[in-house]
Amino acid sequence: VFAIDQNLLPFSFEIRRLAEWRETADAIRTMVVRGAPAIGVAGGYGMAQAFRESAEPAAVERALHELGAARPTARNLAAVVDRVHAAGRAGGPAGAQREAQRIADASVEECRAIGEHGTALIRDGARVLTHCNAGWLATVDRGTATAPLYAARDRGIGFHVLVDKTGPRDQGARLTAWELGQEGIRHDLIEESAAGLLMSRGEVDLVIVGADRIAANGDVANKVGTYLVALAAREHGVPFYVAAPRDTFDPSCASGREIPIEERSEEEVLFKTGPDEDGRVRRIRVAAPGAHARNPAFDVTPARLIAGIITSAGIEVPGDARS
Ligand code: MRU
Repeated sequence: VFAIDQNLLPFSFEIRRLAEWRETADAIRTMVVRGAPAIGVAGGYGMAQAFRESAEPAAVERALHELGAARPTARNLAAVVDRVHAAGRAGGPAGAQREAQRIADASVEECRAIGEHGTALIRDGARVLTHCNAGWLATVDRGTATAPLYAARDRGIGFHVLVDKTGPRDQGARLTAWELGQEGIRHDLIEESAAGLLMSRGEVDLVIVGADRIAANGDVANKVGTYLVALAAREHGVPFYVAAPRDTFDPSCASGREIPIEERSEEEVLFKTGPDEDGRVRRIRVAAPGAHARNPAFDVTPARLIAGIITSAGIEVPGDARS
């Protein structure tokens, strides 16, 4: 399995070779690969690797458990790992590999369709705010929240993107800004805490974010900070949309309260890593010595704050959106 090392972006572009399922699980856990659809697809390939590595049912079960639990919030991971596991049990290593590949290919098509439906929301001159990275790095191609932007660009519609930096790992600053730059799409980075001010001044027309898990009632878990953006959007009458593939929907969670929220290491809040002026990558402390931190990686936006969920089938009103 080959994966772009997203921990090194945008300062260096390296492709990691993940030779065994354990390496694939580790790449998901350490966020070499991240973003709900991307970790789903990576997990599927990891499961296919496990079938190739051992015919021992216990070994395959261990892989099923460890891959599925490598990150807890994104529904896509466990959903895809389970499906490839079932294909492997029925069809052996070749069956598992075929299913993993089929899921990856279907994901590309799904994101394209999300873009086709979502582009109707983007009028000429729109100022669109997004949070975290729900772009092609987070998927197999085109992204979810970014797919409507790329489709609008392809139709010649002009727009401007406001990119939340998205602490503590700065996926907006490091990944989304890099992606949009590569695509030639005009954008400005903002601190997510600036979103409220810009909305209050009428400088944001639309919000589109991705999702990690969508409960049966339409509550959406996404990168921490999304909820505050949605609250500000409601206060200022800015439509707030979520873009997501089918595997992100979890009908077994009745509401957002049941969605498991990943708590990551406090180190991510206390330190930053990046190149200094001479290009040497350094890890620097940004908090008072001795300070401790909480680091919930996701939050839940209630369905009532969401204008619509952009899927490959169209734009659904949350709550009616069940798989
Ligand atoms: O912790 P991350 O970087 O994996 O979180 C990613 C997000 O929250 C994305 O917005 C979400 O997975 C949607 S990706 C299309």
